[in-house]
Amino acid sequence: MRKPLVAGNWKMNGTRESARTLLDGIKAGAMAVNGADLAVCVPYVFLQQVQEALDGSPIAWGGQDLSKEPKGAFTGDISAAMLLEFGCRFVIVGHSERRTLHGESDTEVAEKTAAALEAGLTPIVCVGETLEEREQDVTNDVVGRQLDAVLARVGSAGLGRCVVAYEPVWAIGTGRTATPEQAQEVHAFIRARVAAEDAEVAGALKILYGGSMKPDNAAELCAKPDIDGGLIGGASLVAEDFLAIGRAAG
Ligand code: G3H
Repeated sequence: MRKPLVAGNWKMNGTRESARTLLDGIKAGAMAVNGADLAVCVPYVFLQQVQEALDGSPIAWGGQDLSKEPKGAFTGDISAAMLLEFGCRFVIVGHSERRTLHGESDTEVAEKTAAALEAGLTPIVCVGETLEEREQDVTNDVVGRQLDAVLARVGSAGLGRCVVAYEPVWAIGTGRTATPEQAQEVHAFIRARVAAEDAEVAGALKILYGGSMKPDNAAELCAKPDIDGGLIGGASLVAEDFLAIGRAAG
């Protein structure tokens, strides 16, 4: 009932030329990905190119962040309306790299989620614990706190219009993946937390796994009952790998 979503997060990678090659490759193989939806979240400067390449294809696209403000003197920031103008359906919010490298707080993440929803974008809200937090056995506390901040701001109805991505920070870009059991445990916790507010929203909520998801581990992860696809970093930069994950997720 929940169609998996495989969303690529290109992060700060690529050139016009490499983006063209990657987009051509993804487009060529997308028809063979039947069981999952595909999306790419790209650096802002590639949005026009991505829109031109993917318009009319089954692949959606989005940004990697947005401002919580609608417009004004916010140098370097990009608004939800700007993303919409370039055809974005998705926007990543609260990625751990934004939280740690740019000091984004839970409150700011919640505000950005609200701004995205108000504009009609689908936020991919990222939550996850650091290695230190996992070793201290506070994973659920951290993930619960991050989720609660968003719930408090947009309510369960708002969260129902989001996608959640669980990204154990210690597994991002490290080649170290959470075991399917570890991931499932946190995904089930997230769904139960939302169910305590609204069971219907929880049942329909897509919860993606992010953290070194690759072609060779995607099927096993996505076979878990509460894992509904992935947010893919490194492997989304290689068309064959991204497509293989899409096929495995479905
Ligand atoms: O947004 C994607 C995640 O940070 C995962 O990145 O697949 O390179 O580990 P990764």
